[in-house]
Amino acid sequence: MTNASFTGKTALISGGASGIGLATAQRLITQGATVWIADIQDTLGQQIAEEIGANYLHLDVAKEEEWTSAVELIAGQGQGLHLLMNNAGIAIGGTLETQTTAEFLQTININLLGVFLGCKVCAPLLALSGGGSIVNVSSIWGMVSDPGAVAYSASKGGVRTMTKAIALDLADRKTQIRANSIHPGFTATPMVVGSMGEMEPEEAAQFAARTIERVPLGLAEADQIAAAAVFLFSDDSSFMTGSELVIDGGFTSA
Ligand SMILES: NC(=O)c1ccc[n+]([C@@H]2O[C@H](COP(=O)([O-])OP(=O)(O)OC[C@H]3O[C@@H](n4cnc5c(N)ncnc54)[C@H](O)[C@@H]3O)[C@@H](O)[C@H]2O)c1
Repeated sequence: MTNASFTGKTALISGGASGIGLATAQRLITQGATVWIADIQDTLGQQIAEEIGANYLHLDVAKEEEWTSAVELIAGQGQGLHLLMNNAGIAIGGTLETQTTAEFLQTININLLGVFLGCKVCAPLLALSGGGSIVNVSSIWGMVSDPGAVAYSASKGGVRTMTKAIALDLADRKTQIRANSIHPGFTATPMVVGSMGEMEPEEAAQFAARTIERVPLGLAEADQIAAAAVFLFSDDSSFMTGSELVIDGGFTSA
């Protein structure tokens, strides 16, 4: 999507030890950026960061004090912060009948509060660094839904519209920070492959029949989603803020 140079730019990617976040980190590094991967999987994250030439820091996105420490660490390097990807997320399937309150709150804390905190705590450093671009990772389940995605859809729908409010606020305050959401469809990452592996065979077959098997272009690779995130980070999208970019192989067109 873009071959823009990110030389001189610093990026922070939450949930960057795996899947879509990792694929985006790899693209940004190839295109010249300094990348910080932030995750709770410390052993994996450190190993991955070493392999791809990123920096690693521990961050539970649901904890404001950990965001504050992360930003202090990055600010202390003296290279600013220009790109923020609020990507960390969890998916705990459940219908209105089966989803527990504890699951609902855990999902909201990580998938929605975590994005709010990332934007809130990082925005001052992004502004101080001359502005930048925020990519919030929502989902197709933030636009349409599935009976078994009650908590997940609540969180991702929140990310979709909250990103618009944040984009407007950042523009009003002339921060030079843009904020957009991306809406991936089914992507071959541990989140999807792992959760299907945990289902009973019949449940997995039913889930696949109403989801993955209905995608006109099939299952996405993480790098196909990363390409869209990198476009939103680049100046090629300089007039985009508050937008929602759907990368779903045609799923929501049907
Ligand atoms: N895979 C898909 O089909 C798909 C589709 C739409 C949206 N998404 C979204 O894309 C994002 C990335 O998912 P993925 O598919 O790459 O999954 P993944 O499981 O491969 O990666 C998610 C990462 O987030 C990290 N994480 C979880 N909780 C965290 C926390 N509290 N603090 C910090 N890090 C935490 C995990 O350790 C993991 O490294 C998620 O927000 C997900 O909801 C995924």
